[in-house]
Amino acid sequence: MTSKAQNKSAASAPVELGSPSARQAFRRRLLSWYGRKRRNLPWRDSRDPYRIWISEVMLQQTRVSAVVPYYQRFLQQFPDMQALAAVPEQAVLAAWSGLGYYRRARALHAAAKIVVAEHGGELPRTAAALRQLPGFGRYTAAAVASIAYGEPMPVVDGNVERVLSRLFAWAEPGRDAAWSMAGQLLARHCPGDFNQAMMELGATVCLPGEAQCARCPVFRWCNTRGRGRPKKQERRRAGHLHYRLAQRDRAVWLVQRSRRASLMPSMWELPEVAKNGAPADLTLRHSITVTDFMVEVSRGEPPSGRGRWVTRAQVEALPLTGLTRKILRRANFI
Ligand code: ADE
Repeated sequence: MTSKAQNKSAASAPVELGSPSARQAFRRRLLSWYGRKRRNLPWRDSRDPYRIWISEVMLQQTRVSAVVPYYQRFLQQFPDMQALAAVPEQAVLAAWSGLGYYRRARALHAAAKIVVAEHGGELPRTAAALRQLPGFGRYTAAAVASIAYGEPMPVVDGNVERVLSRLFAWAEPGRDAAWSMAGQLLARHCPGDFNQAMMELGATVCLPGEAQCARCPVFRWCNTRGRGRPKKQERRRAGHLHYRLAQRDRAVWLVQRSRRASLMPSMWELPEVAKNGAPADLTLRHSITVTDFMVEVSRGEPPSGRGRWVTRAQVEALPLTGLTRKILRRANFI
């Protein structure tokens, strides 16, 4: 009988994961599935700690499919730690533009400089040592240490937490419980593959909406089996933004956000204007964290205040906010 057919005939009770031998069987099954079914992603061809680090930071920002082109471009531009450490921060932010959450890009750059100045250009080899660097939290440190160096450290991201909370039918899923359980299940002889397999399972099979239980390699140990609770509705807010699109010759008028702004400091954007009742030339939707903005853009003269004319060629090298990039694309400026 195929495992698919077995999963569908969900007659037998779930097998407990309490004993070492059950956990061993779980690991073997998960790793074998990962070996056969994993997606072929560019950073998986490499054990270069630098490349793995970049991929893990980018993967915290957005989905795998969105990361791939950014990852490839970023590595062409900054192929190793020395290259990244040597460029000005603005160049790193420009390459990051569109991925969002620029604090991570700044920390990445700051860490690269420290690694070159103090660690001979090589990332430290343990999660504990990595955590001393800017931007390395519990997840990133454990991901890099386990995948690049084989240190037996578990990881928990949103996918792993969901997989575990379904596996054990936790009434109240929680990060602390998930870290502890991930540590007990971890395959200590190949922690990098095990961690990636857990994340891969969450990303491709044990999906946030409807779990694809018929394809699940660890179905026999699962205490939920498709009876997932409906996802908690995220409380979202609505907002409005109005921007001016001023163009002259081949240039557009942009302003730089304050260095002290809490969101996207020093990034470039279109000037904001008060709504004046005139119909917008462009409207679009844009989400930032929990707010869905209705964005209206009107063409016209630059509003008073600081700003500068930026040509299309110059725009490519500036760190733009994601929304500005979206508007300029929509307006066919870039
Ligand atoms: N999400 C974050 N890092 C990942 C990885 N290495 N494999 C699969 N999903 C991930």
